[in-house]
Amino acid sequence: MTDQHGTIESHPLRHGEEAETYPPRPEFRAQANVNDSSVYWRAAEDPEAYWADQARRLKWSKPFTEILDWSNPPFAKWFADGELNVAANCLDRHVAAGLGDRVAIHFEGEPGDTRTLTYAELTHEVKRAANMLTSLGVTAGDRVAIYMPMIPETVIAMLAVARLGAAHSVVFGGFSAESLRARIDDARAELVITADGGYRKGRASALKPTVDDALALETGGEPSVQRVLVVERTKNEVAMVPGRDLWWHEEITAFDGDHEPQGFPAENPLFILYTSGTTGKPKGILHTSGGYLTQVSTTHRNVFDLKPETDVYWCTADIGWVTGHSYVVYGPLANGATQVIYEGTPDTPDWGRWWSIVQKYGVTILYTAPTAIRACMKVGRQVPEQYDLSSIRVLGSVGEPINPEAWRWYREIIGAGSAPIVDTWWQTETGAIMISPLPGLTSLKPGSAQVPHPGIDVNVVDEAGNRVDRGQGGLLTIRRPWPSMVRTIWGDDQRFIDTYWAKFGDQYFAGDGARVDEDGDVWLLGRVDDVMNVSGHRLSTAEIESALVEHHAVAESAVIGAHDETTGQAVVAFVILKSQQTLLAPDDAEQALKQHVASQIGAIARPRQIFVVSELPKTRSGKIMRRLLKDVAEGKEVGDTTTLADTAVMQTISARMREGTR
Ligand code: WT7
Repeated sequence: MTDQHGTIESHPLRHGEEAETYPPRPEFRAQANVNDSSVYWRAAEDPEAYWADQARRLKWSKPFTEILDWSNPPFAKWFADGELNVAANCLDRHVAAGLGDRVAIHFEGEPGDTRTLTYAELTHEVKRAANMLTSLGVTAGDRVAIYMPMIPETVIAMLAVARLGAAHSVVFGGFSAESLRARIDDARAELVITADGGYRKGRASALKPTVDDALALETGGEPSVQRVLVVERTKNEVAMVPGRDLWWHEEITAFDGDHEPQGFPAENPLFILYTSGTTGKPKGILHTSGGYLTQVSTTHRNVFDLKPETDVYWCTADIGWVTGHSYVVYGPLANGATQVIYEGTPDTPDWGRWWSIVQKYGVTILYTAPTAIRACMKVGRQVPEQYDLSSIRVLGSVGEPINPEAWRWYREIIGAGSAPIVDTWWQTETGAIMISPLPGLTSLKPGSAQVPHPGIDVNVVDEAGNRVDRGQGGLLTIRRPWPSMVRTIWGDDQRFIDTYWAKFGDQYFAGDGARVDEDGDVWLLGRVDDVMNVSGHRLSTAEIESALVEHHAVAESAVIGAHDETTGQAVVAFVILKSQQTLLAPDDAEQALKQHVASQIGAIARPRQIFVVSELPKTRSGKIMRRLLKDVAEGKEVGDTTTLADTAVMQTISARMREGTR
């Protein structure tokens, strides 16, 4: 169902779309943080000087004298001889500047409970938590796993870990016990911080039992975890393992708010965040301190035109993803912003929830994902129209290209026809926004992320690494190191080199296709590797395929991301069952295998459809031709099958699909 704007488009880039532009309104431009376009050429002339100026906006306990060390590519060091405390930059610095009474967090729980934390209060809580973590043995260089709902303690826990110079590894609460354990083991985390549960879709969902299951899994290795700290949120019944498990609210009472922040080197690890790649094993993306904080704070101020004295900022991303790290925790707090954090889902108790939150807190800047906008479009404009959204002045989008129709709806219905929309392209690996309009300068083009941020140098190249002509499609690369870039894959420098640098040598390969139009604006064309984008979340075909073949009844599997009206892409799996197996009737297979994937990886990876087939389309050398499966799954005419070993396979599969979807 769609509203009066018509049907939702199937492809973001229609020919001729470039002609549609929306210049900044003069009133907006006049007040914008960045409204002098010379910033682009000045930063391009000396990007290191640009970033050094930005870095000096932070508080350094030991000022840096070096800017970029690129003597050992691709291992960059930024501001390496400087020292700072990331948490103190997000907290103590603002309190010392007299801003202690400013609200840092307006928390809205899904059941309707609320909490307000000023910068003074948040600082106090983080100091107490840091003292508590110290008593549990956490010191600089350690890793702490965090598996939490969207509540203030999640932010407090991350900042307390950072304050001690340790690194956090936040695992999204939707991941399964297996996924959590794999991440804990890879990082060798000794402490897990979790909660009894969180509220989602009107229910108290459990988290602690998943931690228990994760730690009980037989993996063959010595478990690294010594302690589990449990925040009380839902009062769900939980089993506490004596000697291992502790309640946060009981432990914290012993600690006061005296804690002097120590400075740590700019390249001290800040966090590891796992993301899917083209193999079954997630990559631990390592981010460090000084460069990361510089770029997240700069982009947050420039791209969203943040006025910390007056804006109420809201990013709807879960803290378990990089958007939550960079644009809920570190960017906004480093900038002294006031923000909303909402625990639950947009449809609880009904689809008016987000808009009621915008109205209640007077949200001025809203940052969300195209999939959410499309879901709201489907429900219809009559829902947001019941609320006063007049406080909104900037809108942001992230996770996938925003199709022009969703862009126009977002601007029209949520942005009163006048709010600029910043479509921000970046990745877990880039740490911060890389390509996006600046709302006081850029004439907006729906569907394009448009221009690299000042100080960022992107390129679109052919397979040989040569720049392609304007208007031609190619591969997106980044030519110069940037402050918030991934430093390595945790524990696997070689994989870091192979994944991002081996292809072009001196340019970072992002994995996305792109095209630069006649005006120099960048249009993202989607992933060029076997990575799917479901609701703005990255999933690997290989990871889901290997989860499927781990099932005793499955002989072979092939997974593709098929176009989906709401989620962008959806997971569609094709499986061949083992011929002798007796445990799974083909009729039960779809449900059982969907459930299997959800329990192996997490609910986000649950396939939309699973088709039991007797054969998969393979080349003579045995490579599965996923492109053909994508065609059938999307109901398109199947492409060239001449390279298949058995050209009849696709007809059989198409017939099977027609049965399955009837
Ligand atoms: C991939 C990164 C960055 C936080 C959310 C996802 C796609 C992201 C856009 C955009 C077109 C986008 C790319 C990218 N992507 N933002 N504005 N326009 N594509 O982080 O899980 O690391 O995924 O998301 O394909 O490579 P992630």
